[in-house]
Amino acid sequence: MSIFPASLPGGTWTLGDLTVTRFGYGAMQLAGPGVMGPPADHDGALAVLREVVELGITHIDTSDAYGPRVTNQLIREALHPYPEALHIVTKVGATRDQQGGWPPARQPEDVRRSVHENLEALGLEVLDLVNLRIGDAQGPRPGSLDEPFEALAELQRQGLIRHLGVSNATAEQVAEARAIAPIVCVQNLYNLAYRQDDELIDELAEQGIAYVPFFPLGGFSPLQSSALSTVAARLDATPMSVALAWLLHRSPNILLIPGTSSVAHLRENVIGAGLSLSDEELAELDKIGQ
Ligand SMILES: NC(=O)c1ccc[n+]([C@@H]2O[C@H](COP(=O)([O-])OP(=O)(O)OC[C@H]3O[C@@H](n4cnc5c(N)ncnc54)[C@H](OP(=O)(O)O)[C@@H]3O)[C@@H](O)[C@H]2O)c1
Repeated sequence: MSIFPASLPGGTWTLGDLTVTRFGYGAMQLAGPGVMGPPADHDGALAVLREVVELGITHIDTSDAYGPRVTNQLIREALHPYPEALHIVTKVGATRDQQGGWPPARQPEDVRRSVHENLEALGLEVLDLVNLRIGDAQGPRPGSLDEPFEALAELQRQGLIRHLGVSNATAEQVAEARAIAPIVCVQNLYNLAYRQDDELIDELAEQGIAYVPFFPLGGFSPLQSSALSTVAARLDATPMSVALAWLLHRSPNILLIPGTSSVAHLRENVIGAGLSLSDEELAELDKIGQ
């Protein structure tokens, strides 16, 4: 008998007209160290991607900047021609330099080039969902996204993109993007310990827009890690499981894209995210981020 649930934890969500499992997969960890170059274990990376589909996950998050090009090419090698139910979400707005930095690439011509590069690397004629990533490595930065988002909206009108989203954005930038074209998701840094976007998540939920936290498992201080480990130990679960399950409980519009380069961790995370948390446990976990 399979140890896996018949449906993935959290069920499904609809991004525009695309139904995805709320439990998705973030492909960034498949590139080499520092998200540069190929993985040490090429076949292992392909195995992770094939396991993603095998487990019934229908949402993969990627970017042509991962590697660069590496994760998109791995996704294509492992999974093309793609199952109809699978939706690949990519992002534009940053490139890579020789030192592994992430300089912005947000001129309209950068956006156009990047969309075409994603199409080519993934072997697609239309991208299901493209996020415009703004801000910098330290997080969102104020400022208009008008020019690059207009460029993306134009590519959508041309039929190269189905749906749009924004990433690493302030609430003001989310509103600015929505005034230009409908968005179906916001992808920002958020987790059990880092709760900057609490208000935004609730507003987006009311509007039927998904919120996709990146670093769902990372960046906890030692104190927060120890508080999380205490609750996890009591629940006979891993801290990773509790962190993922908490996100699924937090709001129905939250979609998970935990990253891993390991089939074993992927499987652990799928099972772990299904952990049921009582109101008391949720209240205790809520305190970690306050
Ligand atoms: N929009 C943006 O600006 C942005 C920025 C960063 C990331 N992202 C997206 O968000 C996704 C998630 O972020 P992330 O991968 O950086 O961080 P994450 O999901 O918070 O954590 C990934 C890390 O956790 C480890 N891990 C995962 N499951 C584990 C388990 N069961 N046991 C032990 N360790 C485990 C992974 O190592 P192993 O490989 O060893 O499992 C990896 O080091 C990325 O893949 C990417 O698609 C977007």
